[in-house]
Amino acid sequence: MVFTLRKDAALVAPHSMRSNASMSSSVDAFLGTLDSALRTIWGRPRASTPSPAQALPSSEAPLSAAERKEAGALMRVNHVGEVCAQALYCAQAATTGNPSLKQTLLRAAQEETDHLSWTRDRLDRLGARPSLLNPLWYSGAFALGMIAGRLGDKWSLGFVQETEKQVEAHLDGHLSRLPVGDIASRAVVARMKADEAAHAAWASAAGGLPLPAPAKALMHVAARVMTTVAHHI
Ligand SMILES: [Fe+2]
Ligand SMILES: [Fe+2]
Repeated sequence: MVFTLRKDAALVAPHSMRSNASMSSSVDAFLGTLDSALRTIWGRPRASTPSPAQALPSSEAPLSAAERKEAGALMRVNHVGEVCAQALYCAQAATTGNPSLKQTLLRAAQEETDHLSWTRDRLDRLGARPSLLNPLWYSGAFALGMIAGRLGDKWSLGFVQETEKQVEAHLDGHLSRLPVGDIASRAVVARMKADEAAHAAWASAAGGLPLPAPAKALMHVAARVMTTVAHHI
């Protein structure tokens, strides 16, 4: 193998070798992203923190059939939100050129995995199923994350901040809609609400720019479509 010696005496691999290395790392990144998508949509995520529902003396409150159905539908919506969070964070991590921000975004995705696991667990216990459209939700959120990431780190962080704020408000609404007797789901949603507020604060502190009003309004509309459809499908 022929190496070129620069003035600073550093060994530099020939162009073809650098191209191969770059292609190999692109393939690795693609496979990593695909693996993450498949595990999010069809896998059984494992939480690193126990679900808040586990800390309750009795996590299964006696619910009527109608209450179980409604709680299941609401938790399906929240599970979809966490599927989307995985897609957004992974896409934004894939598009940033800042290695430190990339690591932070991937760490945030890891934290969101707890939410994904907790909501999936509630679905199982309520006898409800995840959304049949999760592949679609994941793809749409991933595309949005890529767009936000390509706009630059400050806008990308601004997108995280606004998303987390809207999710926090949405979860607050669910706390008033979930059956009073479903203390397990309520504990999970309350903890997620606090976590999402912390994520928004982190994105703001990291330099996220406030999004323009039309962008916020569009995000509200997209979220409304998602929550309405996922409630049923
Ligand atoms: Fe979350
Ligand atoms: Fe979050």
